[in-house]
Amino acid sequence: MAGADLTVPGDVTERDDVQALLRSGFGPLTEACFLLLRVADVVAARAWLARVHVTSMADLDTKQETVLQVALTAAGMRALGTDPKVIDGFSAEFVAGMAGDAARSRRLGDVGPDAPEHWDWGWAEREPHALVMLYAQPGALAVFREEVVGSIGAGFDVLTSLETSDMKGHEPFGFLDGVSQPSIDWNGERAPGSAADLDYGNLIAAGEFVLGYRNEYGRLTERPIVDGAQDERAAALLPRAADRPNAYDSGRNGTYLVLRQLEQDVPGFWRTMSAAAPANPIPLAEAVVGRRLDGSPLVPLQPQRIPGVGEDAGDRVRNQFTYTRDPQGLACPIGAHVRRANPRNGDMAEGRTGLVGQLLCTLGFAADTDADRIAPSRFHRLLRRGREYGRLLSIREAQASVEHPPAGIHFLCLNANISRQFEFVQNAWLQGTTFGGLTGEADPLTGNRAPLMTGAATDEFSMPQGGGVAKRVAALPRFVTVRGGGYFFLPGVRALRYLAG
Ligand code: HEM
Repeated sequence: MAGADLTVPGDVTERDDVQALLRSGFGPLTEACFLLLRVADVVAARAWLARVHVTSMADLDTKQETVLQVALTAAGMRALGTDPKVIDGFSAEFVAGMAGDAARSRRLGDVGPDAPEHWDWGWAEREPHALVMLYAQPGALAVFREEVVGSIGAGFDVLTSLETSDMKGHEPFGFLDGVSQPSIDWNGERAPGSAADLDYGNLIAAGEFVLGYRNEYGRLTERPIVDGAQDERAAALLPRAADRPNAYDSGRNGTYLVLRQLEQDVPGFWRTMSAAAPANPIPLAEAVVGRRLDGSPLVPLQPQRIPGVGEDAGDRVRNQFTYTRDPQGLACPIGAHVRRANPRNGDMAEGRTGLVGQLLCTLGFAADTDADRIAPSRFHRLLRRGREYGRLLSIREAQASVEHPPAGIHFLCLNANISRQFEFVQNAWLQGTTFGGLTGEADPLTGNRAPLMTGAATDEFSMPQGGGVAKRVAALPRFVTVRGGGYFFLPGVRALRYLAG
């Protein structure tokens, strides 16, 4: 493992160039909508992107009544006439797009009813070029949206507008959401790769979420660079690349944004829980998620502080834990959604178990070989910024309802490396059928239930029991269906002007 390269910047100082979504989910701005746009008139579209006010991290120093954020797809950059050489500098998965090839769709689990050809948006003629995210205080979104759409004029057509609803911090199944987030090391205080990383930590290098800064390998994440000798606009508009002469960094202060519209079958979820646990379906539902409805963890808190777990008591009571003391999954099943989504592993698969334990692990004689299969968390973190849509039903309403209007999550996450972060979590951890030594199961919450090519099932869920055989729920139906998705780039403010060039 490489130690931190101190010549690579770790601290993010250009706060007026970083879009505010990296800093905040804008909780008090409870109204939001995501406009998916396609270029209609290139000149007008470029002009709008060049002048629109995009809220930056620095703007958050004062209270914002409304916030506007902009991201582009690779198809959007092509439609705007961005130099193809510049587009090719972005990561391969971004350039190809989320629905870009069948192998990627298979890896993401987007097969059968989740396949892109069934999506409402994100595919072929319905692939967006730009994403404009609008946030406003209660009652203020309609006017703000009208103003923005008016200012866009003939530049873009609105492909669709993803509406959101305020579920007071809950997702449609009824669980508190947004409870665990990585803390970003904005000031570059931590040196990644030190002995402290043998244990799980939650303070993550800025370069995992913002391009142009030190990542968890102590290096710069691969990013698009423009040769200044051949491109005068780049020299005028973009920051210099930290690691190359006469080169300009069109990625710096930007990040990749993954958006997936995930529709949730809320009545189906609660009916399934009730059928499997008629006396009380709530503990089973909590085992599936891996947290209680109110967001508290299923495993006990630990006394030792975890770096990056908040100073405030609220974060500490919800996040000061790992699964090290629950290796068999007796308190939180190994296959539960949150345990898959973030196994809270340090670089030492079993956590720090003393010098002898470390030595044995280093030499490959770990006591629990299953634990070895789960990669360290710090390389696979996601900054989640999604919003819910639809109406929040009570559990009783959900159990009684047959037909219900669509509800779900506009799942949105930010990461500097789509393949190592979002795609890894989705493929290896959530859809993975060998995760933690399990068989016959994938994520019980979001799994697509499609059998493997070998015919092996993925629709079971096991809950280990002390001293006995695990309880298993078989033939889980799907609870989540993908309705649309795309890979976007959320550029720095200067890079947005450049890319719109
Ligand atoms: C409709 C689909 C989904 C639902 C209902 C859902 C629900 C939840 C809930 C209730 C939590 C616990 C509260 C929290 O920590 O915020 C959670 C945590 C999390 N989810 Fe999901 N989720 C969904 C899809 C996804 C997807 C697609 C991913 C990633 C590819 C993901 C990644 C995570 C992560 C990283 C955590 C935090 C884990 C931790 O750090 O402890 N989720 N989710």
